[in-house]
Amino acid sequence: MSKILITGGTGYIGSHTVVELMESGYDVVIVDNLSNSTTAPLEGIKRITGRKPEFVEADCSDLGQMRALFERYPQIRSVIHFAALKAVGESVEKPLDYYRNNILSVINLLELLGKRGGNFVFSSSCTVYGQPDILPVTEESPIKKALSPYGNTKRIAENIIEDTVAAMGNINAIALRYFNPIGAHPSAEIGEYPVGKPDNLIPFITQTVRGIWEKLQIFGSDYNTPDGTAIRDYFHVVDLAKAHVVALERLLEDKNRKPYEVFNVGAGRGITVLEIVNTFERVTGQKVNYEFTRRRAGDIEKVWADTTLAEKELGWRAEKTLEEALLSAWKWEERLLRRKGKGKGKGKRDNEH
Ligand code: NAD
Ligand code: UD1
Repeated sequence: MSKILITGGTGYIGSHTVVELMESGYDVVIVDNLSNSTTAPLEGIKRITGRKPEFVEADCSDLGQMRALFERYPQIRSVIHFAALKAVGESVEKPLDYYRNNILSVINLLELLGKRGGNFVFSSSCTVYGQPDILPVTEESPIKKALSPYGNTKRIAENIIEDTVAAMGNINAIALRYFNPIGAHPSAEIGEYPVGKPDNLIPFITQTVRGIWEKLQIFGSDYNTPDGTAIRDYFHVVDLAKAHVVALERLLEDKNRKPYEVFNVGAGRGITVLEIVNTFERVTGQKVNYEFTRRRAGDIEKVWADTTLAEKELGWRAEKTLEEALLSAWKWEERLLRRKGKGKGKGKRDNEH
């Protein structure tokens, strides 16, 4: 039986995808260097699926380690590549770390997969569109100059994949451009596990309610939006995980129209920061302390997806509601409160040691 290699599989989106793949009957092997996660999700996945996935601790940006992995698993014919550094602000401080880690990993995996042929699904981001001129944004919308080295690694990686697929002839690839995945598995066995102070909105909200931070700062109240706060396309991480299963199946069943395809993955509707806060308060019954502050450098005003292509070609659409997503995020935070950071790896909250 062929194996699906999941890079970054102990991370947030990777772990949710592993669950959906295992529940659909796929045999997976996870590779992760634990730079932003722990091995704890392996136990969570086991509690959900009944089986612990195979795990290899290795660095995708190290060609020798990846070569050894591919030699050990000749059954690998498909790769879902999540492993990357993803902190926008940090990427501005340490661009070479981001280029080295994110770009070398893509190159190594494509090179090794190309030796045997196979399928490649890549985690891209709506960050490649910058602030689009027309909303909602389609896959045909122009790619804008990246606002950070992190965003640039996604654009460059997409180019590398497209060129390599064209040249090699034996790799089929899909890049999924994620909008804003949020929430956690409904079982609260796995979820988002940010290290230190979260950059992203939802973990900051849940940690503020939990009392780790005094107040949520809402970055900007003077945007050209209905309530003045910025708009994003938030959707449930379990829906995103399912998008990977259908993307993989499209490649496995030779249903792709071109060797390299790109799909937007989001809910297809824009939500403001204030709407998030209000909905969170309503569904959880918890009060969120917040204040309005200056806009965050590099933030865009509004973006949401046109998901027509994913609906038509992948038969995928986000099914879960915003309420479900926010409730699951809170349920996960409550779970973390009961369970201190466990497992091997660096991705433990500083404040839980
Ligand atoms: P995450 O940090 O939780 O998961 C990434 C995992 O990759 C971590 O477990 C980390 O330890 C691992 N990793 C990093 N570099 C590695 C390397 N060189 N070798 C092996 N493992 C390595 O992040 P996530 O939110 O699950 O994101 C997954 C992917 O989705 C990333 O590529 C990210 O850029 C992309 N993405 C995420 C979002 C989002 O909102 N979370 C949005 C758009 C795109
Ligand atoms: C950010 C990245 C994006 C990356 C994604 C996932 C930027 C510009 N973009 O997206 O490239 O793919 O994270 O890691 O950083 N907000 C607050 N207060 C907070 C946190 C966030 O008001 O404490 C606001 C932000 O200004 C934004 C919205 O909430 O309007 C969502 O922010 P965030 O969760 O960081 O996601 P993005 O900025 O969309």
